[in-house]
Amino acid sequence: MTQDTRKRRAAEAAITEIAPLLDAKSVVGVGTGSTANAFIDALAAIKHTFDATVASSKASADRLNGHGIPVLDLNAAGEVLVYVDGADEVDGNRCLLKGGGGALTREKIVAASSERFVCIVDDSKMVDTLGAFPLPVEVVPMARGLVARALVEFGGAPEWRQEFTTDNGNIILDVHGLKIADPPALESAINDIPGVVCNGVFARNAADLVIVASHEGVHTL
Ligand code: A5P
Repeated sequence: MTQDTRKRRAAEAAITEIAPLLDAKSVVGVGTGSTANAFIDALAAIKHTFDATVASSKASADRLNGHGIPVLDLNAAGEVLVYVDGADEVDGNRCLLKGGGGALTREKIVAASSERFVCIVDDSKMVDTLGAFPLPVEVVPMARGLVARALVEFGGAPEWRQEFTTDNGNIILDVHGLKIADPPALESAINDIPGVVCNGVFARNAADLVIVASHEGVHTL
């Protein structure tokens, strides 16, 4: 079974998980990335069972619109029932490392606005300790040097993601070489650096449920 097939299986399992919760007033939060894209495609089949979505990126909003699924501005949405998104790494406590696609800030905002956060991954994303995947940090452009020097103090090697601007007009520093022993503490510490908009550790508001698809089938954490 290919990785794409496993991503699709996880996305379909998320539909099975959320479908009983939906009604005509429900708003669904939608993540970003290839696994989230599989979820969007599967969501199209049940688009008449809920009201609308909120998207964590322009790319996901475009894909949702392409399926004829309404997309609301978060400020107009009221209560978001559930947020479904992929991740770059997941540990045993359902803490996540995210932002490989650069959408981490809006992902964290929509996740925090939702009653429930369901993360969908294939089994290659499961790790004992977060940090082998470079940690994305969204930074206000004028603070790039200041933030990079502070991240070196944390033991990481920041690399400016070239020719990339976030949906919010900022840059991304990808931090290599971190072993994230205490995800909530590192999440807060990086957020305290002036100029940091958001970082890709999702631990203070970890996933409520992780759906993992492997060659053996689908299981939950
Ligand atoms: C997007 O910014 C990321 O947080 C994605 O959720 C993450 O990179 C997972 O992407 P894939 O589903 O494409 O692996």
